[in-house]
Amino acid sequence: MGLFPAPCTIALLSLTFIVNRVRCNEILGLKIPVDPVLTANTVCLTLSSLTRRQLEVCMRSPDVTASAIQGIQIAIHECQHQFRDHRWNCSSLETKNKIPYDSVIFSRGFKESAYAYAIAAAGVVHAVSNACSLGKLKACSCDNKRRGDEEAFRLKLNRLQLEALNRGKGMVHGVLEPLPGDLPGPQDSWEWGGCSPDVDYGDKFSRDFLDSRETYKDIHSRMRLHNNRVGRQMIAENMKRKCKCHGTSGSCQLKTCWQVTPDFRTVGALLKHKFYNATLIKAHNRNTGQVEHAHHHPHRRKSSAGELVFFEESPNFCESEPKLDSAGTRGRICNKTSPGLDNCESLCCGRGHNILRQTRRERCNCKFHWCCYVACEECRVTEWVSVCK
Ligand SMILES: *[C@@H]1O[C@H](CO)[C@@H](O)[C@H](O)[C@H]1NC(C)=O
Ligand SMILES: *[C@@H]1O[C@H](CO)[C@@H](O)[C@H](O)[C@H]1NC(C)=O
Ligand SMILES: *[C@@H]1O[C@H](CO)[C@@H](O)[C@H](O)[C@H]1NC(C)=O
Repeated sequence: MGLFPAPCTIALLSLTFIVNRVRCNEILGLKIPVDPVLTANTVCLTLSSLTRRQLEVCMRSPDVTASAIQGIQIAIHECQHQFRDHRWNCSSLETKNKIPYDSVIFSRGFKESAYAYAIAAAGVVHAVSNACSLGKLKACSCDNKRRGDEEAFRLKLNRLQLEALNRGKGMVHGVLEPLPGDLPGPQDSWEWGGCSPDVDYGDKFSRDFLDSRETYKDIHSRMRLHNNRVGRQMIAENMKRKCKCHGTSGSCQLKTCWQVTPDFRTVGALLKHKFYNATLIKAHNRNTGQVEHAHHHPHRRKSSAGELVFFEESPNFCESEPKLDSAGTRGRICNKTSPGLDNCESLCCGRGHNILRQTRRERCNCKFHWCCYVACEECRVTEWVSVCK
């Protein structure tokens, strides 16, 4: 397999809770971890940060919850990737044996908070709906609305193949005589087949599990609900279709298609665009649960519908300030020549930098495994770096 460096190093990301149930299978030297048993005891009771309502959801569907939590893990990894050049780099969302919602950033109204909510909600939809289609969960499977009729499909394919054979008999000197009605089918005609992830189920679970934390009243709840929804929409709106051709020798007499979720890197990047374009909302007295635009215009539809919203200007994240979820940028590696945010001048907030020869260990080639851990290799890097003072 070559996936894990020997001896079965499993570098665990903090959210993993079924750690000791994951063993390495040494048969034939393959490092294949055993699927853990996902029960209320192994999943729900080991997580310390669930609300009462979330605990209920978890007790009812521990396997789906485990998948949701893996989705949050993947989301945090992606957030760290998207913010690697920023002063706030999402590293604070890694928490041990907890879902990360107790982290300070989630209690604030910054753009960064908006991003964190959205990507976590998207991660839940992504992970759960894919687990459905992989047959990992009891409560769901392939998307029923996009499931072909296998019997009808087989009959149709047989008929087309017979027709093709009969036409073969009409060949003169090896040249196929055109027959009436032998027009090639429209290239873009296809039908559902295979297994599409049940995004509706993933979406619903994400709502049950994440939105239930909210009381729908204050500006903070409104912001969270709104951004959760924006995150979930990113999955539904960016589903792709994959297709396969069927028929005699490479012809595409029949095409079956199924949906796939967008690559999570794409989701992270799309939300990153929304981060830059996030809309400031203001508090108001009506407890309608609706998000109101700061520059509200009565005759215009809410223009923030698909945008991330926030209500607090972000601090500069230069200095260490735990109340703001700011670790400060001392010790961060910067790039003297970069035109981007990781430029030393900007990342070090004008404090300057030192140049050091540094050996460090980094997680690399991380793979998310069912269920629910991350296996990373450890890469050792020795290089000259600029480090913020
Ligand atoms: C993110 O920031 C933290 C705190 O400043 C730092 O310890 C960590 O190395 C940073 N991560 C990356 C990938 O730069
Ligand atoms: C930015 O947000 C506004 C509304 O808040 C929207 O009309 C516009 O299309 C967005 N731009 C991008 C690039 O997403
Ligand atoms: C620094 O930034 C420059 C310009 O973007 C880039 O070409 C270079 O690879 C970066 N160096 C490091 C060490 O990341």
